[in-house]
Amino acid sequence: MAMTTELGEQKQLKEVAGIPLQATTVDNWSQIQKFEAKPDDLLICTYPKSGTTWIQEIVDMIEHNGDVEKCQQVIIQHRHPFIEWARPPQPSGVEKASAMPSPRILRTHLPTQLLPPSFWENNCKFLYVARNAKDCMVSYYHFQRMNQILPDPGTWEEYFETFISGKVPWGPWFDHVKGWWEIRDRYEILFLFFEDMKRNLKHEIQKVVHFMGKNLDETVLDKIVQETSFEKMKENPLTNRSTVPKSILDQSISPFMRKGTVGDWKNHFTVSQNERFDQIYREKMEGTSIKFCMDL
Ligand code: A3P
Repeated sequence: MAMTTELGEQKQLKEVAGIPLQATTVDNWSQIQKFEAKPDDLLICTYPKSGTTWIQEIVDMIEHNGDVEKCQQVIIQHRHPFIEWARPPQPSGVEKASAMPSPRILRTHLPTQLLPPSFWENNCKFLYVARNAKDCMVSYYHFQRMNQILPDPGTWEEYFETFISGKVPWGPWFDHVKGWWEIRDRYEILFLFFEDMKRNLKHEIQKVVHFMGKNLDETVLDKIVQETSFEKMKENPLTNRSTVPKSILDQSISPFMRKGTVGDWKNHFTVSQNERFDQIYREKMEGTSIKFCMDL
């Protein structure tokens, strides 16, 4: 009983400047904002369900020159401290990052306006991965169904409304993507798309290699491509979240590595939802030059 109440409390969202975040994150907000970034930090930035785990595995393999054994020593969630993560009594993301030797690779889902200011002040490198809004919504819906510490998404129809109104953890997809896209030339930002990674993974990996200042030969690149395929990562217990207790991620409801495709939205959106979404998308994304691929 106590457990249920505790989990119920953890599911709550609170807001920071209008952005819903996990309550435990908001309770730790001053520590997060005071985080001291360093000039050689690389920050992996994503809106939730946009390929965070995928890019983490790629970055980790690049950092270790394709040495699978070095990458497979610890589960993916523990490789790159999650800056806004707070779940007492576990050490927070800030504490984990502070204890980590440089050069550090960190991760966040925060929109630009909520990022701890020291990341900008130190001109850190940012690696942003964006995914088209419709697939992102579908993936987030299934994730919120199986994630026992995030709010229950309700029915698909209900979730559709929640997502477009931005009342999901980490706020609206639209502002998140726009925010990072608009500043891509002002900071050292490599902006990647999930759909490009699906289309030509090797090409996108090469961009990351270059961005990280590395030089890897062809065989290593090919190995990274193989090791970071959906199939490999789905069966790898270090990347598929199978070690997370069912009381947190219930993979019998929906697997963490669910489909990993482009265009699954077509199996969820009704014709009228699609029309409505396209209209809202046009309004919210007006004036931006960003273009997404919706199907391969
Ligand atoms: P789906 O739910 O559409 O399958 P995140 O890591 O940001 O939470 O994103 C999770 C999404 O990325 C899931 O999408 C997951 O299947 C997909 N994903 C993870 N690794 C992938 C890979 N190697 N190739 C393709 N998709 C991948």
